[in-house]
Amino acid sequence: IGFTEKQEALVKESWEILKQDIPKYSLHFFSQILEIAPAAKGLFSFLRDSEEVPHNNPKLKAHAVKVFKMTCETAIQLREKGKVVVADTTLQYLGSIHLKSGVIDPHFEVVKEALVRTLKEGLGEKYNEEVEGAWSQAYDHLALAIKAEMKQQD
Ligand code: HEM
Repeated sequence: IGFTEKQEALVKESWEILKQDIPKYSLHFFSQILEIAPAAKGLFSFLRDSEEVPHNNPKLKAHAVKVFKMTCETAIQLREKGKVVVADTTLQYLGSIHLKSGVIDPHFEVVKEALVRTLKEGLGEKYNEEVEGAWSQAYDHLALAIKAEMKQQD
């Protein structure tokens, strides 16, 4: 199943919208992660020691942005090349940091659900199943590449 131009455009357009309020949406994203999987709190250095999800934390924002941005880049590659291409060094880094942090496969489903909920929140009326499908498909490809790298390094 290919990735269409329409899907690529939907992903790009919705990222443009969310990008306009990173503090808000990164907070929402992490709140959703903890609502779905409270135990995930212990994984993140910037969440472990605080009672609430910290506002305007640079590391929190960086992780949220990475997940959204890399999924968006994956969408572009899927349309252009029909596959995900993450630079070797980047993929090695992503594999090692997640392995080292104690991330396991089911966590990727949690983050996907949080991503979808954040899109819903940010897009309002512009959100629909087609948008969700495009993001899900791109995210699944990226997550698969990271999980495979984690297995290789383990
Ligand atoms: C760190 C990307 C999924 C947990 C990182 C870093 C990147 C990254 C680039 C390095 C630090 C940074 O730049 O913020 C991604 C991408 C993901 C993904 C692209 C999915 C497509 C996940 C999942 C979990 C997770 C599913 C677990 C729920 C962590 C943790 C760190 C980390 C615990 C260390 C950060 C810290 O404690 O300071 N990730 N990640 N990530 N990631 Fe992910």
